[in-house]
Amino acid sequence: MKRRLGACALFVCTLACALPTQGAGAPERTLDVQLELIAADARVLAAAATPPVRRAALSERIRSNLGSLGMTARAAGRQDAAWPAALAGLRELFAAGKLAAFAGAARRLAAAHPLDVAYFEPLAVTPQRLSTGRSIYRRYCQGCHLGPGAGRWAPDLFAMARKEPRREFVARLLGGVFGDRTTGHANPFSDEALASLTAYFLAPGAAK
Ligand code: HEC
Repeated sequence: MKRRLGACALFVCTLACALPTQGAGAPERTLDVQLELIAADARVLAAAATPPVRRAALSERIRSNLGSLGMTARAAGRQDAAWPAALAGLRELFAAGKLAAFAGAARRLAAAHPLDVAYFEPLAVTPQRLSTGRSIYRRYCQGCHLGPGAGRWAPDLFAMARKEPRREFVARLLGGVFGDRTTGHANPFSDEALASLTAYFLAPGAAK
């Protein structure tokens, strides 16, 4: 199931959709991205300050991700003996609404399958990347994401890039950005393009 969140041309990932091309890449990477996103969403869901509307959207996305996780793991060939119990345990905690325990279990599982972010950290911020990142952002993202500090319905990507651990932010870029029908809804951006975007988001005084 693919679910559109917000009126966007891009999907915010439920990862029910296997991501075939560059962005998420190989099935192993898809699994790592999915686990990282579940853990990240679980943490926000468990936080007392998270408003109800956001909670509802996060729960929906987690539910969807948990639903497809078994399939993703099979595709990635990563099902060791401990996997079924770990997955069942996660689903139980989520279904029981034990959010703090769920967040902890999701984080442990993600830590056991860490997304490789060597391409993004350390991140070389070069003039070339800044200029590529700026033009991608202006052309494809700004219309919804608006710019530093201004995000209302779509998050401020500049703040997000600065605040979040790099692994989490990269997972959101890899798993959260989708193309349209022309890319088979796959993430259309290469790692280099996403690194350029990240460099732009992090650059001091990046222009809106
Ligand atoms: C058509 C509108 C639209 C466009 C264009 C768009 N986004 Fe988004 N994006 C959204 C909305 C809305 C959300 C918040 C959805 C939610 O969290 O419920 C979002 C969320 C995100 C997130 C957070 C995902 C997560 O895991 O919570 C990232 C990262 C992101 N967008 C990156 C981008 C980038 C990079 C571009 C440009 C290449 C882009 N977006 C273009 C609307 C858009």
